[in-house]
Amino acid sequence: MALIAFLQAQNCSNYVGSWRHPSSMTDFLSASYFTRIAKTLEDAAFDMAFFDDRLAMPDVYGQSHELALRHGIRSVKMDPTPILMAMAAATTHLGLGATYSTTYYEPFHVARLFATLDLMTGGRVAWNIVTSLNDSEATNFGRTGHLEHDLRYDRADEFLEIVRRMWTSWDADALVLDKETGVFADPDKVRRTTFSGKFFDVDGAFTVPRSRQGHPVLLQAGSSGRGMAFAGRWADVVFTAYSSREAGEKQYQAVKQAVADAGRDPAHVVVAPAINVITGETPELARRNFELTDALSRPEDSLALLCEVLNVDLSTRPYDEPFTDAELAAMSWQGLRDRVIQLSGTANPCVRDFVEHSGRGSLPKGDSTMVGTPQQIADQLEQWFGSCCDGFVLSASSVPGTYEDFARLVVPELRRRGLVRDSYTGSTLRENLGLPAPAEASREAAA
Ligand SMILES: Cc1cc2nc3c(=O)[nH]c(=O)nc-3n(C[C@H](O)[C@H](O)[C@H](O)COP(=O)(O)O)c2cc1C
Repeated sequence: MALIAFLQAQNCSNYVGSWRHPSSMTDFLSASYFTRIAKTLEDAAFDMAFFDDRLAMPDVYGQSHELALRHGIRSVKMDPTPILMAMAAATTHLGLGATYSTTYYEPFHVARLFATLDLMTGGRVAWNIVTSLNDSEATNFGRTGHLEHDLRYDRADEFLEIVRRMWTSWDADALVLDKETGVFADPDKVRRTTFSGKFFDVDGAFTVPRSRQGHPVLLQAGSSGRGMAFAGRWADVVFTAYSSREAGEKQYQAVKQAVADAGRDPAHVVVAPAINVITGETPELARRNFELTDALSRPEDSLALLCEVLNVDLSTRPYDEPFTDAELAAMSWQGLRDRVIQLSGTANPCVRDFVEHSGRGSLPKGDSTMVGTPQQIADQLEQWFGSCCDGFVLSASSVPGTYEDFARLVVPELRRRGLVRDSYTGSTLRENLGLPAPAEASREAAA
């Protein structure tokens, strides 16, 4: 069972009210805040921790950043990669990932950044590939508007082809380092990356040698049909969100099928849904913690987060007016839209349905929010693991509270049941996730 922690380089977790939870620390602008989390997760032998990202403040709601700042709605967003390095320096085995966008960055930049991180961590790095979501991100990068949904994935496909070619352009034994002969590297073992497509024209020799795990692990979270096809082609780990265990069983099969359709082995892709876990030594303690946490959510915060990811200003829209088919088609995050359609039971949901069923800014209703004693939590995880996933992404409702409770209470129970390891078995992230080495350098670069 893969254990992955979902982190944010910001003032709260993806549960916005978390910064007001008594078990949340407020020193999130310091390295020590993040290294404390890293050590907790490594002691519990988590496979990986990774940071999400958004390249703008949530200011689509009311076309203003006022509410985001006043309520702390993901209003601080630091670059995750320097923080990742601080966490790496404090640990030896924990895998570490960061989200970077294929819509706003360039392939050379991302390839070089993550290849360098992978070398500096001894092969423990993952890149979470996203295509980004809204116009505020576009204007931060000097663009006029966000690319249309499927075009973003077309660009992402080209982006990945280039990055993979760069990462595999050095053979593992290209470095010679012979002081006697003066040969630094074998030029026959390093190929230029050339690519010409609709979005990119690239030609150059990549400047970072291969890392111990071949290249960084690739994570992806697209949930629409186009998103899943993209994940099937590229992802080592698929991060997903299930509305229920039954829905999860179908989604799990769909992701594995997308991997097979792309000509890859479904056993070599880890599928991990997001879960929220609120636990305590007794059912009563867990229930009280849940009530305390749940009371921190505010519908207005949810609305601001929904406007951010749907790329629509809903601030003046009547709460109960159904969206038309055209409005639904224009929404940026199609996977989330479809989840609300499914959970609300209506083909044309309204704002209220989105607030109540999207799980943005609140604890998601349904099976993915698990409340109970360590034994009760382990029972649920075991059931999911046997039917709809290869591991879990633990979302936090207080930081570091959620990670510390899970490590102290739930991990020992999972170990007793033989569902997770006692200590790390490999040195790279790929080894710990049980993933094979990526395709050999020369074959891929020549393709
Ligand atoms: C569980 C999950 C986590 C995601 N995390 C991020 C994120 O951190 N940053 C981001 O820009 N998009 C994030 N996304 C959005 C996806 O990368 C993608 O842009 C979005 O899902 C739209 O694609 P889709 O319509 O294929 O789902 C996430 C999506 C899911 C399902």
